[in-house]
Amino acid sequence: MTPFVVVEGIDGSGKGTQANLLLERLKELGRDAVLTREPTNGAVGKLIREHMQNPFLDDKSLALLFAADRIEHIEKEVIPNLEKGRVVISDRYVYSSIAYQGQTLDPDWVASINDHALRPDAVVLIDMDPQVSLKRVQERDESMEYFEMDMRFQEGVRKTFQSLSKGHHLPESLKTDFIVVRGEGIRKEVFERIWDKLERHVMG
Ligand code: TYD
Repeated sequence: MTPFVVVEGIDGSGKGTQANLLLERLKELGRDAVLTREPTNGAVGKLIREHMQNPFLDDKSLALLFAADRIEHIEKEVIPNLEKGRVVISDRYVYSSIAYQGQTLDPDWVASINDHALRPDAVVLIDMDPQVSLKRVQERDESMEYFEMDMRFQEGVRKTFQSLSKGHHLPESLKTDFIVVRGEGIRKEVFERIWDKLERHVMG
């Protein structure tokens, strides 16, 4: 099957931009590719987004909803596109659940409710100091979602992403190649750093 690539990072790390640049590069090179995202635009994803604007769910229910949204994402978008021979790039995936929901819940439990998740071929982790990323988020959008507001929370998420990239807290089924790239700097430069390490995964 064609490669399945995930882009992860804290809020404001520029992962959405980098995922788009990756899509463009692949298309330029004649590779059929699609970009998907979590939370999705499906029914469960919409519920999650409503919660993000105005929280009404407890942490465990939210974690289960992310896992449910992921099932839809995998079955309706990821697998059908891979089967059509397209590279699938996902803006966020199961590693976000372990990093975010794992701040208040047992990360092993979060991983266990996601044991259906298809293993990606590579994860691009855009690593960034939350002091820098939160400033970006504030400049972009005044109505910040509640995860985006707390610096200490983002620091915890960053640390968990870093330890996931070393294979800690990950069940065998989710271990994969992590490409860790610093997110500071001009977006095109950040992208070239990513491409340098990712090319062999997506063009091979
Ligand atoms: P995202 O759509 O990437 O943010 P934005 O709207 O700024 O582009 O993600 C929305 C939020 O959802 C983000 O704060 C991270 C959070 N999230 C989780 O907590 N767990 C998850 O499993 C996923 C996929 C996202």
